[in-house]
Amino acid sequence: MRFKKLLTALVGATLSFSVFAAPLQIKFSHVVAENTPKGQMAIKFKQLVEERLPGKVEVKVFPNSQLFGDDNVLEAMLLGDVQLAAPSLSKFDNYTKKLQVFDLPFLFQDMEAVERFQNGPAGQELLSALERKGLVGLGYLHNGMKQLSANSPVRVPADIAGKKFRIQTSDVLAAQFEAVKAVPVKKPFSEVFTLLQTNAIDGQENTWSNIYSKKFYEVQDHITESNHGLLDYLVVTSKEFWMELPDDMRDVIKKSLDESIAYGNSIAAEKDNSDKEEIIASRRTKVTSLTPEERKQWVDAMKPVWKKFEKEIGADVIKAAEASNQ
Ligand code: LMR
Repeated sequence: MRFKKLLTALVGATLSFSVFAAPLQIKFSHVVAENTPKGQMAIKFKQLVEERLPGKVEVKVFPNSQLFGDDNVLEAMLLGDVQLAAPSLSKFDNYTKKLQVFDLPFLFQDMEAVERFQNGPAGQELLSALERKGLVGLGYLHNGMKQLSANSPVRVPADIAGKKFRIQTSDVLAAQFEAVKAVPVKKPFSEVFTLLQTNAIDGQENTWSNIYSKKFYEVQDHITESNHGLLDYLVVTSKEFWMELPDDMRDVIKKSLDESIAYGNSIAAEKDNSDKEEIIASRRTKVTSLTPEERKQWVDAMKPVWKKFEKEIGADVIKAAEASNQ
């Protein structure tokens, strides 16, 4: 009899625990606006996961550097204060030098080449480049090719000599601007608009989507369609968080991530065109295309940067990336 009572109490406790247990919280922190490929991908991920794991997982998305910025999100992740982020591939310099391959100027001809490289063996291997540091790369997400914006016309490298350009925290990007005698200034994304508006810097490099959604075009008189480099993301989590998830939950989360990344990539392709058109239509800035001769001057000046970083990145990785152009 006593045993029966104990059993009933135990079953009751277990039931009430499972009914009232708080859902697992996944905080997803990023720095861009919601109307961007990454912003949309994060929202899609929340929808999919909460639909597939009702009451078990709650995803909280924090856009616009609301929770963490570029400078502290990875540390916060290792401390368990945030579970997901998708920093640009240029922001991992302190964790691995391997991902610097994505910053090499004029490496990828177009986004199809980027896609081929990321999905190929060399690109897939780079996903685990952060594991020794306690981070897991869960997938690549596209934004697009970078353009140059400035407060004066820019056609050839000599036009930006001596000018201050904001860059992400990447030594390759610093070398890229030094190669054309400009002055690179490493700053978090959240500060760029004000730096441009107050003329504390002369220009910056970014995708059409970021230039549009953060209104950089309203405070820059010129944009040069240079397509000189890539801005893509790595979706990351901490190894500790990832490995502690129950297997079935981890599978659903990974599947939802893969689907939301595919969705984000489709938005990236669309916005690369539509945000450029919006910027042109606004007439707030002048958009310039380069002639093949002008473009060649940029390639000749910037490409020697590859050699400088070949040892750190690995000649084989650079070769594989270059081969993805064919
Ligand atoms: C930047 O800092 O310019 C970008 O990495 C921002 C972003 O996340 O797209």
